[in-house]
Amino acid sequence: MKSNVNYLVAAVFVALIFFTIIYVTAILPATTFTPNKSDVAWEYSSSEKRGRDVYRREGCFYCHTQFVRYQDREMGEMVKAGDYVFETPHLLGTERTGPDLSNIGGKYPDAWHWAHHTNPRAVKPGSIMPSFSYLSNQDMTDLVAYLQTIGQKRVQPRWIVAPQEFRDKFHGVAEKTDVNASSFANAGRGIYMQNCAQCHGVTGKGNGSVSMTMQKKPANFTRPFYAGYDDATWYWRISEGVPGTRMPRWAKTLSDEDMAYLVAFLKTLPKPPSAKAGDISVTDYAALDQPEEMNQNFWEIEAQKHGSGESDPFTAYSEETKGAHE
Ligand code: HEC
Ligand code: HEC
Repeated sequence: MKSNVNYLVAAVFVALIFFTIIYVTAILPATTFTPNKSDVAWEYSSSEKRGRDVYRREGCFYCHTQFVRYQDREMGEMVKAGDYVFETPHLLGTERTGPDLSNIGGKYPDAWHWAHHTNPRAVKPGSIMPSFSYLSNQDMTDLVAYLQTIGQKRVQPRWIVAPQEFRDKFHGVAEKTDVNASSFANAGRGIYMQNCAQCHGVTGKGNGSVSMTMQKKPANFTRPFYAGYDDATWYWRISEGVPGTRMPRWAKTLSDEDMAYLVAFLKTLPKPPSAKAGDISVTDYAALDQPEEMNQNFWEIEAQKHGSGESDPFTAYSEETKGAHE
């Protein structure tokens, strides 16, 4: 009889310890720890929210984590508690069969994600990520919209843009010049041939004669990517050059007016995307090794989005901006 009481005391003691641990490690923090939302915390739009549900439903978090700790070097910027205030249920994950996705937003264009989800091997040879080609267009669109939000505010803007200082400066320049006028573009062509063509090439393809000797090749302005540059960004890049390359800081040599002529000329060079072989560029990922139909869907959805005036680098391909380039 006496030994039974002993067992009872032991059992109560063990239960007490168990619940104390649960209380201290789970219940107490859950009720008392309410961090303020950080700058990175993202309030999802309805499409992004649906995309998040697709991410959960498809089990992306089985293989991908969404946290970067002190010891996770080279995974990008560390996360803070306040980043997660809209993250219920959380999608932190535990396994890193695939890379951490905390900073995936803005790393790739939408078209890359479409190609990668449809057939990971098409863009990452040797990838063991499964294909999600069975997702509907709606699911795919929303999922990509969601991915593009993750860490978006933590990392740099999605596409490089001119700092405010240069925007203000360009604003002053643009008041005196019309960078959309073809007469300005023609004048810019002249300045370009004298100062830039030896590196960037007569047609702007980055293959000027001097480029042969250069390790970091001059930019190819005919890439569709450059259609995403706005006027101030062109102006800023010409004015300040590209540190670490042989691209000079033209503000030291040319006048503001000359640089405005150059902006007018350069913005006529980017080509709309094409699926020709040998002409693959950032925006042509959708053309890689996937059903033709999928491609078509991607560009149709892009076109619809931009019909509604949403701002994105791909806007450059809408009819409206194409007109402005001519
Ligand atoms: C079986 C494990 C697995 C699952 C499930 C999985 N992935 Fe992956 N994922 C990987 C691996 C491995 C890589 C690295 C190779 C590559 O990029 O394809 C990867 C890479 C990625 C990348 C590129 C990361 C980078 O920084 O380059 C993205 C984005 C991604 N996955 C998204 C998803 C999404 C969205 C889902 C759910 C629809 C998903 N993954 C499901 C294993 C997985
Ligand atoms: C000595 C060779 C050289 C000359 C001359 C030169 N560039 Fe460049 N340019 C480069 C290199 C190299 C880059 C860097 C490409 C990169 O970062 O990938 C570059 C980059 C640029 C960029 C930025 C592209 C980007 O990706 O943002 C612009 C804009 C540009 N050049 C315009 C001009 C203009 C306009 C002129 C003439 C006034 C000119 N360049 C003359 C070599 C040159």
